[in-house]
Amino acid sequence: MSIETMFPENFLWGGATAANQIEGAYNVDGKGLDAQDLMPFVTKEERNGKINMDLSWEQFNHHLNDESGVYPKRFGIDFYHRYQEDIKLFAEMGFKVFRLSLSWARIFPNGDDEKPNEKGLEFYERVFDECHKYGIQPLVTLSHYETPVGLIQRYNGWESREVIDHFVRYATTVFKRYKDKVKYWLTFNEINVITKSPYTGGGIICERAKDPVSVGYQGAHHQFVASSLVTKIAHEINPEFRIGCMLARVETYPGTNDPADVLLAQHENNLNLFFTDVQVRGEYPTYMNRYFEENGIKIQKADGDDELLKAYPVDFLSFSYYTSLSVSTHLDGEASEGNIFQGKVNPYLKTSDWGWQIDPIGLRTALNDMYVRYRVPLFIVENGLGAYDAVENGQIHDDYRIDYLREHIRQTGEAIKDGSDVIGYTTWGPIDLVSMSTSEMSKRYGFIYVDQDDEGKGTLARLKKDSFYWYQKVIQSNGREL
Ligand code: BG6
Repeated sequence: MSIETMFPENFLWGGATAANQIEGAYNVDGKGLDAQDLMPFVTKEERNGKINMDLSWEQFNHHLNDESGVYPKRFGIDFYHRYQEDIKLFAEMGFKVFRLSLSWARIFPNGDDEKPNEKGLEFYERVFDECHKYGIQPLVTLSHYETPVGLIQRYNGWESREVIDHFVRYATTVFKRYKDKVKYWLTFNEINVITKSPYTGGGIICERAKDPVSVGYQGAHHQFVASSLVTKIAHEINPEFRIGCMLARVETYPGTNDPADVLLAQHENNLNLFFTDVQVRGEYPTYMNRYFEENGIKIQKADGDDELLKAYPVDFLSFSYYTSLSVSTHLDGEASEGNIFQGKVNPYLKTSDWGWQIDPIGLRTALNDMYVRYRVPLFIVENGLGAYDAVENGQIHDDYRIDYLREHIRQTGEAIKDGSDVIGYTTWGPIDLVSMSTSEMSKRYGFIYVDQDDEGKGTLARLKKDSFYWYQKVIQSNGREL
C-alpha cells in the first residue's frame, strides 16, 4: 500500500472537547451543578509537582458553598455563547467530526429529575444544527466526568445501582431527541479512570462508601450495565446509531527485560484493558478473578447482568492516547509525570512542558495490540500536547504542537498499514480549554488560541495558531501532507 492510501476515504478527522471544559454558563438556563464545577484552580506552587484529584466529603461541601474561590470550569471558554464562531473555525480547518459531551446537569439539573430541562436540550440542538451546516458530524459523549452534584449527594454517585436508571432516562431522552442529528455516541469518557478520583467519572466519595476497597470497580460495574442497557435502547431507537466505549489507553512497557518486569507490564496492561475486555467482548476476563480476590474487591452483580453485558457489547472502541508508561520491579529510576497515571522515566522519550512522556510509536503499538485483541473499529478520540504558548505580534508559532501531532498521525497511518481498522482521529482541545486535571487555562492544546488566563481574565478572543493552518492541510490532503 502506498503512502497515498494510508487513511481511508471517509476517515473522520476532527477535534474533541468536553462540556465542562468549554461551555461555561454553569448556572444559565436551568443548568444544575456537576462534579467539575467544584474543581478549583490550584497554582503550580500549591500543587508542588503533584496532581491531587482527591475529594473528601468536607471539601465537596466547601466547594459547593464557596463564593470566593476560582473555579475555571464554571466559566470554561464561554462556548455556550460562542459556539457559532468556534464551529465556524472548526469548519475552516475542514473538520469532518466534532467530539463534544453533553452536560448531564444541563439536561437533568439534579440528575434524577423526572423531566428534562427543555432549554438544555435546545442548546445542543442548536450546536448540532450548526455543525451540520458545515457538514461536520457530532460525536457525542454522554458522560465526560460530569456527574450531577445531586447524584453525588443522594447516591454517592455510581456507587449506587439506582444511578443506572437515571442515566438510562437521560440517554433515552437524548437518543430520541437527536435521533436524526447524531450517529456516533460514546457512553463514558475514560471509563477506567472511575477508580482514580471522585472527579473522574463516578462522583464517588470513597469515605462515604459502604465498601471503600471495592467501590471503584463496583461503580465501573454499574457503568458497564448502564452502557449495555443504553446500547440496546440506542439500536432500537435508530439502528444506524454507533455506540462506542472510551478508554484512557495507557500502553505500558517493561522497564527492563527482566522477565519479572515483562510480567508486571502484562499485568498493568490487563488492568487497563479489563474495561474494554468487558465492553467489547461482553464478559469479565478470567485474569481479574485473582486480582479481585487478592485485593479484597467484591463486586455485587444482579441476576441477568452477565447476560446483558454479553448481549449488548459496543459497536466500536474509542480511546485517548497521550503517553506511554514504563513499570519495573526494580526500585531505581525516577518517577514519570502524568495527570492520573504514573510510572518510571523512559530514557528514550522526550517530555512535554508538564513532564508527560511523548511516544508516538506507542500509539501505533496501542492500535495494533487493541485491533489484534478485539477486531472492532478503533477511533482515536483524544491525542494532543498540552503546552505553554506565547503570542508574538498576534501570532502563535507552535511548531512543538505540530511536531507532536505529525508524529502521532504518522504512526496512526503506519498502524493502518499494519492492518488495524482505524476510523477516525480527533485531537484533544482543538480550541484551548480548561485543563481537566489542574483547571489551568495556560495548559493549551488548541489550534485556536483563547485569550484567557488561569483566573478567567482576558478578552476571550479566538486567534489561529500556526498549527491551525497545518491541520487544515492535513485534513485537506487526507493525511498525505504532514
Ligand atoms: C483526558 C480527559 O484524560 O485528558 C480530558 O478525557 C483531559 O478531559 C485530557 O482534558 C488532558 O488532560 P489534562 O489534565 O491535561 O487536561
